[in-house]
Amino acid sequence: MALISWSNMLSTGIGEQDTQHKKLIDLINQLNDAMQSGHANDVLGKILSELVNYTVFHFGYEEKLMAQYKYEDTPAHKAEHAKFVQTAGDLKKKFDSGNAVISVEIMNFLRDWLTNHIMKTDKKMGQAFVKLGAK
Ligand SMILES: [Fe+2]
Ligand SMILES: [Fe+2]
Repeated sequence: MALISWSNMLSTGIGEQDTQHKKLIDLINQLNDAMQSGHANDVLGKILSELVNYTVFHFGYEEKLMAQYKYEDTPAHKAEHAKFVQTAGDLKKKFDSGNAVISVEIMNFLRDWLTNHIMKTDKKMGQAFVKLGAK
């Protein structure tokens, strides 16, 4: 079963942002499935790398939009992104050096972080930009 399921409650109102969130959810679900079926570390590592890289790409996309719309909450939103990139990067480093495993706790952290960030921070941004004409 998927760890995270997409629902309209997660929609920010901006099509491209939703598409990218669906991809992030898909990668987290893939990582969870791979962990649960006991796949080898090289399989998990590949998905984890993809997740970290796609997260950086996605945050860049949102931060470009924030600059474009001169968004007032940019500093707080960017700070949430930076903290997560740091945490995910540390996890990847520890995993790559054999000092961390992908656990249920880590998967729950990824699920909770992403869904909370989308529901609160990204939705607030998306709804503000929809009012300014974003789609
Ligand atoms: Fe996002
Ligand atoms: Fe965000």
